[in-house]
This record gives sequence, structure tokens and C-alpha cells, in this order.
Amino acid sequence: MSFKTITLAPDRLNRSELAVPGSQAKLFEKAAKSAADVIFLDLEDAVAPDDKPQARKNVIQAIGDIDWGRKVLSVRINGLDTHFMYRDVVDVLENASDRLDLIMIPKVGAAADVYALDMLCTQIETAKGRKKKVGFEIIIETALGMQNVSEIAAASPRNESLHFGVADYAASTRARTTSIGGANPNYAVLTDSNDQGSRDTHWGDMWHYATSRLVVASRANGLRAVDGPFGNFSDADGYISAARRAAVLGCEGKWAIHPSQIALANDVFSPSEKDVTQARRIVEAMKQAASEGKGAVSLDGRLIDYASIRQAEAMLEKARLIAAL
Ligand code: GLV
Ligand code: MG
Repeated sequence: MSFKTITLAPDRLNRSELAVPGSQAKLFEKAAKSAADVIFLDLEDAVAPDDKPQARKNVIQAIGDIDWGRKVLSVRINGLDTHFMYRDVVDVLENASDRLDLIMIPKVGAAADVYALDMLCTQIETAKGRKKKVGFEIIIETALGMQNVSEIAAASPRNESLHFGVADYAASTRARTTSIGGANPNYAVLTDSNDQGSRDTHWGDMWHYATSRLVVASRANGLRAVDGPFGNFSDADGYISAARRAAVLGCEGKWAIHPSQIALANDVFSPSEKDVTQARRIVEAMKQAASEGKGAVSLDGRLIDYASIRQAEAMLEKARLIAAL
């Protein structure tokens, strides 16, 4: 390990993160009863400009009035390039109850954006005597944000997670695609002809680099990495496949832009019974090895060592959090 220690963000489950428009108060109760780990009440892109004042009121009232159970509760504010942002932060932090856990900041482009928000939140919390400091969820969804992702991730002790906002990212980078988070037939490799003269097309994941870069910046700063939206909510298989790719790269959850996606995300981002059993066996085998003065042993014909223990323990910790729900 490096001599530099990484402070880990609070250990929260973030398998599914449900987006709920702040202007649609009738959806709040249902969201609170859903199986989502995290809910963000949106004041940004799902709310039309004229509806923003009412959406703020809805959100502030709902944070205090609704029983959100053990869910992590967040509000997505507007971007720093709009005049809606300061009013979102001031109204929400001055008036919402301490049930609020996080503020989600969209379209962050530079560490200074986070710094500015930290300053504003700190002033309001101090002035109002708020007991709980809000944490930050940060959406990386512009070319500038991706370029500065490492500095952004390190910009505030309030930071808890980075989210890949694939829709705005596609717009910002002018990616030639119109689907939100789906695969693209043009991002493919055509194989050479085989002996029979036929060629195969292998679709690739056009979001691989961006997701991977975001995961590295997140983890290097102790933050959760979360994959963003998948727009075609009628395509459960497509969602599952995108979620699995993100999980393999190190994301620990994915947005649900429709309630039907919550169960899919919870399933993909929960360790299976088989994984948990295997993790327990690895920990046991390594304990046994340590008692015999060995650093590595074989289990089922495969090498395991101290790195395997760290992987296994991370999985068992996740299973413990899920069991405690
Ligand atoms: C989310 O905000 C996105 O733009 O994908
Ligand atoms: Mg966006």
C-alpha cells in the first residue's frame, strides 16, 4: 500500500439510485416505499424552468414529511452555470429537515465548482445551526468534468460518490449516438474473413473508457463510483447488460430512471449467495494458512493470497450491509 492513506466515504449501499422529478410530488410516496437504496429528488433536468420554484417547495416539504425509511436521500440541484443553483441550495439547506443526506451536483467541470458549493453549504449549515453536514454526489457528464475528474474527486471532504451522466456526456463530447447509455452498432469491430469467407461484427462498449476513468478517480479518493441512466426502460436485458459491465469495472450501483429498473440494479450489484459462500471460504482458508505461517495457499486448485482476502472481505462487507436492510 502507499504511505498515503485514502479516507473512505461513509459506507452506504448505492446499488440502485432512483431519479424522481421534484415537480411530481405524487410520485414521492411510492418512491419512498420502493426498494431503491438511494433516491434523488430532481430539481434539474427533469423539471421545466417555470416549475422550479414549486419543485423546490415540494422537495423541501417531502424531505421532512415523508417516511423515507432507511433510504439515502439526495436532492439534485441545478448546474453552477444557471441562476437556479444558488436558490436551490439556499432554499433546500435553509428549510429542509436534517433527513437530507446528500446534494447531487450536476455537470461539475472543475474542482473549483465543488469548492464553491462546499463554501455555500458550510455557510448555510453554520448560520442555521444544521447538525448534519450534507455530503456531495457529483455527476461527471461533460468533457471538462472528465478531463478534471481526479481533482474534482479530491475537491471536498463532503464528496461521497461520482456518477457517470452518460446522456449529457454524449452531448458534451458530441458522441454520435442518441440512445441514453445503450450500446451502439457503430461502435463495433469487423473481424477479418474466416475460412468460409464470412465476417463477424463484435459490438464494443463505447462508454468503457469514461466509466473506467471515473471508477479510478472515485476509488483513488475513497468514493463510490455509480453508473448513470439507461434510457430505454422497456429493455430490461439491455439495462442488465449495461449494469453488469459497470459492475465488472468497479461501479457499485446504477441509476434507475424508472421504478422497473430498481430491482434489476439491486440484483446485479448484490453479491450472489455463491459469491458470499466463496468469499467466506477464502477468508477461512487464509486464516488457516496464516496460523500455519503461510502467505498463500491453494483453494479448489487456485492460488489465493492476501489480495484475495481483501477482495473477499469487501464482498462480505457489502453482504453485511444488505443483510442489515
Ligand atoms: C444524467 O444526468 C445524464 O446526463 O446522463
Ligand atoms: Mg445530465
